[in-house]
Amino acid sequence: MGRLEGKHALITGGTSGIGLETAREFLAEGASVAITGRSRERLAAAARELEAPLLTLVSDAGDVPGQASLAARLQAEWPKLDILMSNAADVTHLPVEAWTEEAFDRILATNLKAPFFLVKSLLPLFSKQSSIILVGSVSAYVGHENATVYGASKAGLLSYARGLTYELKDHGIRVNGLSPGPTVTNALSPLGPERQAAVYEELRRTVPLHRLGSATELAKAAVYLASDESAYTAGTVLRVDGGIGELAY
Ligand SMILES: NC(=O)c1ccc[n+]([C@@H]2O[C@H](COP(=O)([O-])OP(=O)(O)OC[C@H]3O[C@@H](n4cnc5c(N)ncnc54)[C@H](OP(=O)(O)O)[C@@H]3O)[C@@H](O)[C@H]2O)c1
Repeated sequence: MGRLEGKHALITGGTSGIGLETAREFLAEGASVAITGRSRERLAAAARELEAPLLTLVSDAGDVPGQASLAARLQAEWPKLDILMSNAADVTHLPVEAWTEEAFDRILATNLKAPFFLVKSLLPLFSKQSSIILVGSVSAYVGHENATVYGASKAGLLSYARGLTYELKDHGIRVNGLSPGPTVTNALSPLGPERQAAVYEELRRTVPLHRLGSATELAKAAVYLASDESAYTAGTVLRVDGGIGELAY
């Protein structure tokens, strides 16, 4: 029997990288899975790649009022929800001088405000044995070039793990963060292959374990946090980051 048998899981940003690999692991463990993304085409491509029955929902994670409609669409499909992985993110990295108020508002809407309102909208659907996983980043703990605003948005998101655990304890909902370090995904593909390889090499040198992580390694950690194996784990952050968030480098 799979570790997530009978559970229903929503993953935001499930068309690529950590979200897609988590969908794959959740399905393999017996869960019913829904993924979101901004494009119908990329959602269809993810469903083809996973070769499994999957609910695909077009939804922009930066659309704050849209979170209530996402919850309503899910409620129309499923009797309950046991797992929410808030994974979609705006990963804009810019030097201080380049930030506009509009870009600042957009990254905070996507990474901080909308996830809160998604949780709020899903409250009636969560079962009494639910797990919320908030995907943070090592940038919440460690200063990185051009990552001031991104890091602040992720630090805020991860702080929800503490506040929401307290507030939702009587709903039977556990809330934890999952904090990746540098991980090979499509996040840097807009840079082009050469620049991406150079950035990966720069990042690799900063990781105490001397390598980048894989999306599968993050997905397996997500399975643990999603499953009842972690039933006594609440309000904390699991760092899957090669040690970069905790150790000096
Ligand atoms: N990779 C790393 O090194 C790393 C390190 C630390 C933290 N993280 C965190 O890990 C998470 C996943 O990142 P990844 O590296 O797997 O990135 P990725 O491969 O680029 O995948 C990002 C996913 O999020 C979706 N997405 C992006 N913006 C969205 C929006 N506004 N609304 C809905 N979906 C959206 C994308 O779907 P569509 O494009 O189809 O909409 C895609 O499915 C993020 O929270 C990121 O901050 C990653």
